[in-house]
Amino acid sequence: MKPPAPQRYTANHGCYGRENRATAAFRSDGLTDSLAGVMSSQPRDAPRVGGGPVRIDVERVLADIAELAAYREPDEPGSTRRVFRDAHRSGRVWLAARMAEVGLEVETDGAGNLIGTRTGRGAPGAVVTGSHTDTVRGGGRYDGVLGVLGGLEAARALSAAGIELEHDLQVVDFLGEEPNDWGLSCVGSRAVTGGLARADLERTDAHGRTLARALADFGRDPETALTGRWPLPHAFVELHIEQGPVLELAGRAIGVVTGIVGVHRVLVEFAGRRDHAGTMPMDQRHDAACAAAELMLAVEALAQGGGGVGTTGRVEVEPGAMNVVPDRARVWMELRSIDPAWVSERRDAALAAAAAAASRRGVGLSVDVLSDEPPTPMDPQVRGAIDAAARAAGYDPLELASGAEHDTRQIARIARSGLIFVPSLDGRSHCAEEWTDPADLAAGIGVLAATIVGLDRLPPPSPGAVR
Ligand code: GLV
Ligand code: MN
Ligand code: MN
Repeated sequence: MKPPAPQRYTANHGCYGRENRATAAFRSDGLTDSLAGVMSSQPRDAPRVGGGPVRIDVERVLADIAELAAYREPDEPGSTRRVFRDAHRSGRVWLAARMAEVGLEVETDGAGNLIGTRTGRGAPGAVVTGSHTDTVRGGGRYDGVLGVLGGLEAARALSAAGIELEHDLQVVDFLGEEPNDWGLSCVGSRAVTGGLARADLERTDAHGRTLARALADFGRDPETALTGRWPLPHAFVELHIEQGPVLELAGRAIGVVTGIVGVHRVLVEFAGRRDHAGTMPMDQRHDAACAAAELMLAVEALAQGGGGVGTTGRVEVEPGAMNVVPDRARVWMELRSIDPAWVSERRDAALAAAAAAASRRGVGLSVDVLSDEPPTPMDPQVRGAIDAAARAAGYDPLELASGAEHDTRQIARIARSGLIFVPSLDGRSHCAEEWTDPADLAAGIGVLAATIVGLDRLPPPSPGAVR
């Protein structure tokens, strides 16, 4: 992809006029003091770690991102690499080789998550970081990829600096984070935390292929995916692009996520009557697509005014001919908010609007709840570790909620978990224009490396501390 604004990448990282850039510890030689800052704040009897400043080589990360971006679906826009498809599969073969080159032990777990492990000194539970390499159709190069390749760079940089950790460090490419052809997101992270149900495996795509079949064709045993669980991690942190405009507008390089919004996803299906578009009078039609259109506009209206967002991003109409009154329409509806009451009130109102439209038009209605994720607060200890790492590097991190879904939500079921954001140019994401300034990539990866060290030093998690 052509970088939209190369002039923003300046050697002194002075873009966007961020006042905190001047004091940030990423120097023109690519070194960062962030880790040293975290280490110097540790008590004297903390385990001794060697090494000085950690060098984040952003050119190397950009080269990795470009190499992975070459694995894309040739007939699709942007960096499309949808889960289970050839580009996704071969991109992971490339990633596994890169993990091995970095010195990680590479394995794929029962749910299809690709894991690279850097061995620690044997303390129980791994410090885990990672994200995903699948994309939405027409997506960009950074969504998910930064968390995986940034995690890899953090592991590489810690090793180059001679820093040993008490715990194993695992860098994970979670299987299928984006909503897939079966209407399910976060397949791999759900599976290893007990969030995948047999009914999920029995879901079918538009061609009648089950998710279980897709997993099997991908080389995973669906039964293992259903029952396999990860051992409890020591802690989890994900680095991700913000995918919205908040950090950029505030002029901040680092975001500390306070929580991930609740997401409610529903498939609404309208069943009307197929008729000739030229001969059936307007007042005698049962047009499923028009009922769907009423629902779409109702969702948009209900979500106005702040507090949350509502989208009907996928619609299918049958038979899809200009001269036929549509007898079937499917609308995939999504509502998101950090406030669970906002979501449930809008969902009820949207479904009432759908029912009213259907009854007025003499059209049948069915509703299938695809997923219902409550808001997920981030763990205070992990938030604290990110904040300390960022401040030690001279950044002034901004606390913000995540409007996007992340594997972190699933992992938060079994581990204290947190999310680091870096800015997205013009807040754009899920499109080919997605772009993050290399200076911000370096900032995020440096903070990730320092956070990993901070998490390594946390005492063991107290049982029952996670949801
Ligand atoms: C994932 O990118 C989501 O928020 O849908
Ligand atoms: Mn995404
Ligand atoms: Mn993502």
